[in-house]
Amino acid sequence: MSITIEKDMDETRQGEAIQMEGEGHKGKKLYLESYGCAMNFSDSEVVASILIQQGFTTTQDSDEADVVLINTCSIRDNAEQRVRNRLTQFNKAKRNNPGMVIGVLGCMAERLKKQLLEEEQLVDLVAGPDAYRELPNLIQEVEGGQKAVNVLLSRDETYADINPVRLDKNGVSGFVSITRGCDNMCSFCVVPFTRGRERSRDPQTIVQECAALFNAGYREVTLLGQNVDSYRWNMTSKGKIKDETKPTTNFAQLMEMVAAVHPKLRIRFSTSHPKDMTDDVLHAMAKHKNICNYIHLPVQSGNTEMLKRMNRGYSREWYMNRVAAINRIIPDCGISTDIIAGFCGETEEEHQDTISLMREVEYDSAYMYKYSERPKTLAQRKFEDDVPEEVKQRRLEEIIELQMQHSEKINKAQIGKVEEVLVEKVSRRSDEQVMGRTDRNHKVIFDQEDAAIGDYVHVKITDCTRASLLGEIVK
Ligand code: 5AD
Ligand code: SF4
Repeated sequence: MSITIEKDMDETRQGEAIQMEGEGHKGKKLYLESYGCAMNFSDSEVVASILIQQGFTTTQDSDEADVVLINTCSIRDNAEQRVRNRLTQFNKAKRNNPGMVIGVLGCMAERLKKQLLEEEQLVDLVAGPDAYRELPNLIQEVEGGQKAVNVLLSRDETYADINPVRLDKNGVSGFVSITRGCDNMCSFCVVPFTRGRERSRDPQTIVQECAALFNAGYREVTLLGQNVDSYRWNMTSKGKIKDETKPTTNFAQLMEMVAAVHPKLRIRFSTSHPKDMTDDVLHAMAKHKNICNYIHLPVQSGNTEMLKRMNRGYSREWYMNRVAAINRIIPDCGISTDIIAGFCGETEEEHQDTISLMREVEYDSAYMYKYSERPKTLAQRKFEDDVPEEVKQRRLEEIIELQMQHSEKINKAQIGKVEEVLVEKVSRRSDEQVMGRTDRNHKVIFDQEDAAIGDYVHVKITDCTRASLLGEIVK
């Protein structure tokens, strides 16, 4: 399995050329670039949809764009620095194209509000995650010579009625957001400040979107939320008033609804929260073959005291109980995680507890980070960022080294198995090879033969590298 040290910024995606008739901004060109988590990529598809409705076409060449929008991430400081560098580049390009509107969207827009516009003078427009419906007006304001800002957070915006324009290239696997915001307040995390209160989206609109994706040829959907396990829709409330006495749809039930769209539509989801993940979710996964056996279950630390400081809402024992439940209810389920090295006050013993937990679980893969203090968070207000940089680095390296061993071990254990693989795209290595994923989310590279992108094929795993499995189609 692949090991990703920095999940953010490792990939950017630009819109394919897409046009639809619309009003207001007819003929204008939009260049849209996204950083950070899957939710941001999904939001960019909502943004593209809103602007294409207004007459925009998307372009992959920022130099020819009338409007450049960059959807940003604030999760760690280095994520923000990379966006600043990118904005500086766009500002240089703007010298040859003075009419160009440069806008910042997403978490940095929300966190920094007017700062990028007024103090740093890097952008003309700032729109937070709940303000995308306003983008056509904001762009118009800028074109009229003003600076435009909307960073209002909403309690009910879910963009449920907007049919996102798919910006991915393969047409096989798509994101569908099911909740927005986060109420958890993990002490290290800026997300509750940048994305606001948690709200769930109407399940009917989720099912409709998944069915539309299937009909358009997609064969996999990933249901997205900061904490999918807290998905909760009160069926009588129209999304506004939560009436605890009325029946609700929870995440397990939502998954069953989506699984029923079509047996050939694979369901994935991210992110699970150890404190909220119920056995019902696991039973739904076990019951439906098309819900993939793979769970991303961030642990952050293997030490209970540390987890308290992180305000994660579970202990090491609770987490291990959830892992045991996964292994009991869904044998052969892949588990991945997120780990933070060097959070405030982390002792060597606490770090060793993370190492020992990793040995107990043996994750398929992990996203591993050094702690980066974020303004306004609980940790920034309450604790000192006191683990020296070189200690953070050394602990992170130990974590990465161990994870590489585990990934390799799990990859090797797949050799000899025959797996159902969904073919996603042509392999980067060779035009004659394709990449697909197993149910358990392992990447497999194999000769294409007569398989088409979007097909399910049976592949015998013959070998592996550190990053992926290698195999051949069996008929
Ligand atoms: N520093 C380092 N990593 C962080 N994450 C969230 N906030 C921080 C931070 N301040 C990590 C967590 C989370 C993932 C998305 O990013 O591991 O699960
Ligand atoms: Fe951040 Fe915790 Fe919410 Fe995840 S669950 S987005 S880590 S506050």
